[in-house]
Amino acid sequence: MNRNTDRFRFWHGSSTPFVVAAALALLAACTHGYTGQTSSAGETSDLRISLIENARWSMSAHNMQPWEIVLDESDPLSFSVHLATGRLLPATDPYSRQTVMSVGGFLSLLEDTAAATGYQLDYAMFPDSELSLDDIGYAFDSPVAEVTLRRAPATTVPGYLDAVSSATVKAALAPMAIDPRLEAAFFDLDTFPDVQIRIIEDDPELATLKPILKDAFRLEMTHVPARDESYDLTRRNDRQIRDAPWGLSYRSNYRGGNLGFVQFFETLFPKNREAWGLTGADTFDAEIDRATSFLLIATNGNTRLQQLDAGMLFERVWRIALHEGYAVLPASQALQEYEAMADLYRLVHHSFAESGETIQMIAAIGVPPEGHRSGFRIATEELLRDDR
Ligand SMILES: Cc1cc2nc3c(=O)[nH]c(=O)nc-3n(C[C@H](O)[C@H](O)[C@H](O)COP(=O)(O)O)c2cc1C
Repeated sequence: MNRNTDRFRFWHGSSTPFVVAAALALLAACTHGYTGQTSSAGETSDLRISLIENARWSMSAHNMQPWEIVLDESDPLSFSVHLATGRLLPATDPYSRQTVMSVGGFLSLLEDTAAATGYQLDYAMFPDSELSLDDIGYAFDSPVAEVTLRRAPATTVPGYLDAVSSATVKAALAPMAIDPRLEAAFFDLDTFPDVQIRIIEDDPELATLKPILKDAFRLEMTHVPARDESYDLTRRNDRQIRDAPWGLSYRSNYRGGNLGFVQFFETLFPKNREAWGLTGADTFDAEIDRATSFLLIATNGNTRLQQLDAGMLFERVWRIALHEGYAVLPASQALQEYEAMADLYRLVHHSFAESGETIQMIAAIGVPPEGHRSGFRIATEELLRDDR
């Protein structure tokens, strides 16, 4: 008897079902839709918890959700919001500008959620000390905001629930001019004296903007520290998402069955860092080439309070756009502050900023394809910290 044939029979006869079952289990793990919905949602009698439950669906740079909450034990309507110093982006966001904007987004969604419940937020921003502008904030222990809830007539802000069910769509957006009503709504939402919002739709401006955005994305994807930060924060399947429910994933780029297969193959045969970065840059080029409308948010100066305000406005704009059936694709690479990006940073400011302005956000607006998954977030309980 041929021992090799026997061995083959043995392997073939007994292990194939095992291999197939393992592959199916892996595929299931890749496609199961973890979102981080908290089990305590709806059961809590603590108003603060139920508001945070919704507000944590705010956008954030690299989906790092850089907020932590300290509940005031002596006042059931008060709490403070801190930087999550374990979830910063040292390579991509060395001065935590995007991180502070992201906390602004969280506060904005918190504000609109509270309004719908019949509460207004009284804030003290940076009540102890402001994070200095050249500090990433690893040791920043002071609150970003102290918040107290106060009874007010309930007002519903359209879109305040949409963040929960809608992932940021980063691929296959169809171009669409922004409806004048939506454009007017964007300007109405800008209640911040030092923050400006502009729409870029004219051909000469688009011809200047698009190459800058594409060059900046490609630079990010070839600048090793920034690329590796994104690569290492990318969750390749739902098990990884469940284990570390922050960071990036393929949910923003793929839909339906394609998503499961991409997650499956990326789990089994992950692209190497270089190929991964270049594929991302090619996909981004195609999105930018197609886009015909962009929005730009700029501040007069660049203080931490202005960064918070810019983040609040961006979150408001994102949600109203979502509510009206649009998708917003941030393209903020040229605004990143590491040395390798300095020329493109200067160029985008030279081309699109007024004197003294800092551009805080640039994003394409289009129409999303059908069938996107929701994103994922850290459970509310995990965001709560003991007083420090
Ligand atoms: C300040 C800020 C900067 C961002 N920059 C980018 C960006 O350059 N490219 C991008 O694709 N998404 C960017 N985003 C979007 C986040 O990646 C997205 O909000 C986050 O991953 C949550 O995704 P989800 O809505 O699918 O859950 C940015 C978001 C914020 C708040």
